[in-house]
Amino acid sequence: MGKLSVNLNGFELKNPIMTASGTYGYASEYNDFIDVSNLGAVVTKAISLHPRAGNKHIRITETRAGMINSIGLENVGIDKFLEVKVPELNENNIDYIMNVAGSTIDEYVQVAKKCDENNIKAIELNVSCPNVKSGCLEFGTDENSLYELVSAVRAVYNGFLIVKLTPNVTSIEKLGIAAEKAGANAVSAINTLKGMSIKIERVSGKFIKTIVQGGYSGIGIKPVAIGAVSRLSKVINIPIIGIGGIETLDDVLEFFAAGAEAVQVGTANFTHPETAEKLVKELEEYITKNGFESLDELKKELRA
Ligand SMILES: Cc1cc2nc3c(=O)[nH]c(=O)nc-3n(C[C@H](O)[C@H](O)[C@H](O)COP(=O)(O)O)c2cc1C
Repeated sequence: MGKLSVNLNGFELKNPIMTASGTYGYASEYNDFIDVSNLGAVVTKAISLHPRAGNKHIRITETRAGMINSIGLENVGIDKFLEVKVPELNENNIDYIMNVAGSTIDEYVQVAKKCDENNIKAIELNVSCPNVKSGCLEFGTDENSLYELVSAVRAVYNGFLIVKLTPNVTSIEKLGIAAEKAGANAVSAINTLKGMSIKIERVSGKFIKTIVQGGYSGIGIKPVAIGAVSRLSKVINIPIIGIGGIETLDDVLEFFAAGAEAVQVGTANFTHPETAEKLVKELEEYITKNGFESLDELKKELRA
């Protein structure tokens, strides 16, 4: 085991730097830019029971400090994922976590069952996507619904179960506690914030408005994410994976200080696809340069 290895409640990662769901495709496409097998793990796009075409209208827009997306969970569906994407990931030696989305408890359960049967080692339940009409966020914003969903998935899935939490609630702590009680092995936080952008142009004496509603992500959400991780760390005992606006090593250290055991890089992948791999190298150099024996020692000092 290297200096950067992390044991997340029994689930081993070679380092704590992952890429976030929906921002890294099915991973293998990024092999043209970096050696993806160097990453702690790649979290796949959300996979649902049936293939989804995603939303029709404008799916992405840039904002001054991040972006808004409304992809609508486009994906190939679990059967094709298992048949085509998993062999590709394995061939490329890529460690991965499969993100799961659904509209009903039964859909999540059916996908989780297939994951269990096909030995998918880790899944991340997306209960926090703001861009679809039904399901998903409905589970993530109500602690009783979340408890019911996570318990049902836990009953059929024996691998490492992560629940991805939304910041679009009054108390993320209550949702974290519900996930832990229902048997989650870890939580990840945060998914995108509900947002809207109105781009205004004046053409021939008239206003033309381009409206995009969806999930806001990127550097602007980092303080929200740091706050969420810190508050969660005070009330739950399972590991927290920090997500939100991570671009630099200082961002990663800030998440560790707040209580995260590992992190995921999202929006930064679109402008700098090499970000996550660079962070792995920089973290290793930082640990060596400052004389820490291990990542755990660094985290301990950061939290003291
Ligand atoms: C284009 C796009 C697609 C996303 N798709 C998913 C998804 O399918 N499942 C999910 O759990 N999160 C999804 N997310 C949320 C990210 O995984 C991440 O939680 C969020 O963007 C915050 O991290 P960031 O600020 O580093 O981007 C998506 C984000 C973006 C920008």
